[in-house]
Amino acid sequence: MSFRVKVVVLGFAATVLLLSGVLGWGYFLGEPTRGKTVAGALGIPRPAIIAHRGASYLAPEETRPAFLMARELGADYLELDIQRTKDGVLIAHHDDDLSRTTNVREIFPGRVKDTLDTFTFAELQQLDAGGWFNSAFPDRARGSFRGLRILRLEDLLDIAESGGHRPGIYIETKAARRFSGIERQLVEALTRRGWISHAGSGARAPVIFQSFESESLARFKELAPQVPRLLLIDEVMVAKDGWDAILKEAAQVGMGIGTWGYRWAYGPDWSIKNAPTRYVMTWPWYTGQAHKAGLFVHPWTIDHPWEMWAVWLTGADGVFTNRTEAAIGVYGRRSSTELVKLWERIGY
Ligand code: G3P
Ligand code: CA
Repeated sequence: MSFRVKVVVLGFAATVLLLSGVLGWGYFLGEPTRGKTVAGALGIPRPAIIAHRGASYLAPEETRPAFLMARELGADYLELDIQRTKDGVLIAHHDDDLSRTTNVREIFPGRVKDTLDTFTFAELQQLDAGGWFNSAFPDRARGSFRGLRILRLEDLLDIAESGGHRPGIYIETKAARRFSGIERQLVEALTRRGWISHAGSGARAPVIFQSFESESLARFKELAPQVPRLLLIDEVMVAKDGWDAILKEAAQVGMGIGTWGYRWAYGPDWSIKNAPTRYVMTWPWYTGQAHKAGLFVHPWTIDHPWEMWAVWLTGADGVFTNRTEAAIGVYGRRSSTELVKLWERIGY
């Protein structure tokens, strides 16, 4: 064996050893067995594929095609952010205002930065919630996205209930402090539609509540204690309160913790558009500590296959992802139907 071949062979062996050491150690620290027990007891599939704002890489976030596509791809949960209009309608919308994801500039020029709760439902229905996507992502644009409407909670429930595959729903109370009584309104709406009565029966959890505000989760705990609840956290909260205190709080108000994941941004060819500049909390030792505290762990927002593998191998119990189409492949649930057929099936 020549010297050069020996160097290559030894280099390869050292890399394999190092990688297995890192992954093995990560697996050990992440305590995946405990995670399995915690998620299993609550009826939460593992790994849970949570379609973040729907299949939001492929279609405008929180719109009908985004949720229909996530459902058809086989997501376990449709994730949405809930807010309330001036006249009391529960709406799926992420941002405080409407400027990024609608044509509010054109329709209500004087109200571009006004918060969603200052609009009535009828006013919101005048907005196009899909056209922005075609301008922002021309490589994924579709003519049928133009003129999409902002959805009500009721529309989302219709979507979840109407396919061959029935996903659960993963609801975030967004800026809950601004919407007094929104938890009660949500629980009542879900109860009317039969989504709460099955919770806690041992079957798959149909609903999970999530919030960055522990007070909101505490209200859900009183109103519907059987529904799983997850405290979302970010690096600002950890810097302010410390990891141990946050873990304690998460266990007090809920059953899960939503850690800040890697969140690199990728182009359609997986080229890196921008790297995370902030502190990451989905390290295996954090995941393991959360499991020891009796919490399931769902990091957000995990979009690249390598990140999906990394968090899974180091113990996380699922992922919030914009890329359901990638997650189903990574987690062995690849749909047998091509995307182009799915677009046809859902009519977009
Ligand atoms: O709900 C998980 C994740 O969605 C939290 O962040 O800002 O995307 O709602 P955000
Ligand atoms: Ca959210």
